[in-house]
Amino acid sequence: MKEVARDKWSSKLGFVLAAAGSAIGLGNIWKFPYSVGVNGGGAYVALYLLFLVIIGIPLMLAAITLGRKTQLSVFGAYKSIDKRWSFVGALAVICGFVILAFYSTVGGWVLYYFKNAITGELNSTDPAALAGIFTGMMSSPKILILYQLIFMLLTIVIVVNGIKKGIESSSKIMMPGLFILLIIIAARSVTLSGSMEGIKFLLIPDFSKITMDVAKNALGQVFFSLSIGMGVMITYGSYLGKEENLLSTAVSIPVLDTLAALIAGFATIPAVFALGFEVGEGPGLMFITLPAVFASMPMGQIFCIAFFLMVIFASLTSSISMLEICVSYFVDERNNDRTKVTLTVGALIFLLGIPASLSLVEGSCFKLGSLSFFDMYDKLSSNILLTTGAFLLCIFVAWVLTTKEAVKEIESSEVDFKLANVWSFLLKYIVPIGVFVILINSYKDFIVALFQ
Ligand code: TRP
Repeated sequence: MKEVARDKWSSKLGFVLAAAGSAIGLGNIWKFPYSVGVNGGGAYVALYLLFLVIIGIPLMLAAITLGRKTQLSVFGAYKSIDKRWSFVGALAVICGFVILAFYSTVGGWVLYYFKNAITGELNSTDPAALAGIFTGMMSSPKILILYQLIFMLLTIVIVVNGIKKGIESSSKIMMPGLFILLIIIAARSVTLSGSMEGIKFLLIPDFSKITMDVAKNALGQVFFSLSIGMGVMITYGSYLGKEENLLSTAVSIPVLDTLAALIAGFATIPAVFALGFEVGEGPGLMFITLPAVFASMPMGQIFCIAFFLMVIFASLTSSISMLEICVSYFVDERNNDRTKVTLTVGALIFLLGIPASLSLVEGSCFKLGSLSFFDMYDKLSSNILLTTGAFLLCIFVAWVLTTKEAVKEIESSEVDFKLANVWSFLLKYIVPIGVFVILINSYKDFIVALFQ
């Protein structure tokens, strides 16, 4: 590994914003609300929060600590401690390809809706009309691919320009803006008449709804939403200075991330009930519901335009973190030219994403067994690749690096890690066993689904 002086974040805030920028994205605003709808409401939310606290946050700390300790990105970090673990880097790259391939599909939808918001086409509270716009988009390969291409191009342009300029500066304005807007939308959504049913659906868990499937989706969603399991947080953590407090960072990012998801849930689900949409709608939920909420607000169109603009930025700060991981592998490990690599990798991911985009069109041939390519990429990335990556991260930090070394690293910045024993115990036993049980099930189901 060549020794290079590493950039540091220009401030602690820069790191937190960039890491939060990676974490907060379509996973929170688009995926969380619709997953709550599909997976049965409050019970899924409760399980999500449980997994977040006992698995997500401990692993976030593990990832950032591993990065800061080695001062290397995901590939070097594993390799520098144990050569046999270099394969985790390859897994991260594969994972990045698959996630970004379908992430850019949804990114494209957001761009198209932004355009529609400007032209005023979304201005309706009629469920049928709004569903029509979504179906119209889904049945037009031209629109889907064009907007997906634009989304990938935006991602590529930012990554070509390097980590700081791109990531840090844009997060500072957009993240707070997104929060403010989400809160305003949630306030409107919960005050619509008939929203109470939705609030209950979100908050009151019906534990009989918890199945292995729901558990799998909730855990996969924790990893997806926190950007854990493909090395983003290891890489970002490697840019942190030795004096930074890792504990507060590892807690504040998941807290911000979860707040964003919950507020997005409150912005979407109560409105679904109040305005007569279908809560189990699936991936289209946000796109058909939120325009109706805007249409019921004074100056709705302005809010609608601002919202989709903020979501574009939030998804770009996430997509650049995925592309960055893939690109830095070929640049750091294989010594290739950064610009060339970014263009090539970006183009390949775009190509890989086309079948995902087209697979949701009626009668599409992009299906494997009973799964559309879109769902397959989604399940493959969250439930299989990320969960595997998170499992390996856990084993690595707990048993190869050892929690003792990790705690030493955490305490080197003069913080008193009071819960060090609890964290070590979770990381050595509870997290790996829990994740393993779910993971085995995911492998089984995924294979079965392919052959159906
Ligand atoms: N966390 C992001 C979101 O919620 C998506 C994301 C960005 C991601 N980088 C990642 C997910 C790395 C997994 C791994 O939208």
